[in-house]
Amino acid sequence: MSFINLIAIDGPAASGKSTLAELIANKLNYFFFDTGVMYRAVTLAALEQVKNLDDEAKVTDVANRIRIDVQPASVQDGRVMDILVDGRDVTWQIRTPEVDRKVSKVSAYAGVRKAMTEQQRRIGERGNMVMVGRDIGTVVFPDAKYKIYLEASPEERARRRFVEVQKRGEPTSYEDILASIRKRDEVDSSRAVAPLKPADDAHVIDSDGKNIDIVLEEALQILGNPVS
Ligand code: DC
Repeated sequence: MSFINLIAIDGPAASGKSTLAELIANKLNYFFFDTGVMYRAVTLAALEQVKNLDDEAKVTDVANRIRIDVQPASVQDGRVMDILVDGRDVTWQIRTPEVDRKVSKVSAYAGVRKAMTEQQRRIGERGNMVMVGRDIGTVVFPDAKYKIYLEASPEERARRRFVEVQKRGEPTSYEDILASIRKRDEVDSSRAVAPLKPADDAHVIDSDGKNIDIVLEEALQILGNPVS
């Protein structure tokens, strides 16, 4: 099966995947779906409902139980969309440093990934979609016709994330963000299930030192050249 109208964009934390995906989606009039919000939503719910996140069975149970919804933005506060967990707006709560620190652990659990992957496949089958994550081109939609893997150095990504967090007025430091990004890279790339890596047939874009216009141009060229 070939998903001609599904564009998979994978890459490490804060590599600019969502910004790129949003621009592509606007240009092509496609839906934009960031699967990272689902793992973040499970992590937030697990932090609230389970004392010990080392308890894989309990965290997996949370993943299977909660209802995650993504809807058009209802508030003009910089959000791209509303993220709801069991009807509660958690759009900004899933972006806290605490969720950043814990999300890699939660997303390494096989049962959590199974639950999220099933939901993502259902959503992606609607078509006309740019789907962003870590394993979209390798696991969720290995037959996607278009696959982009967006890279950038940890330092560049930490700088970008630092500016974002500062804009929201949250207390943080560049060093803490860099350490958190390095840690997440390590956990995301070394986990047993669906580790972060480019699909064999993905087009890799390195965004270090490039502004978003240049990255978008490279991506649009790739989209004119489907993977063989
Ligand atoms: O893209 P992000 O930083 O919002 O993603 C949060 C975490 O979710 C990230 O550390 C890894 C995980 N993730 C994943 O394992 N698979 C995906 N398809 C998307 C995100």
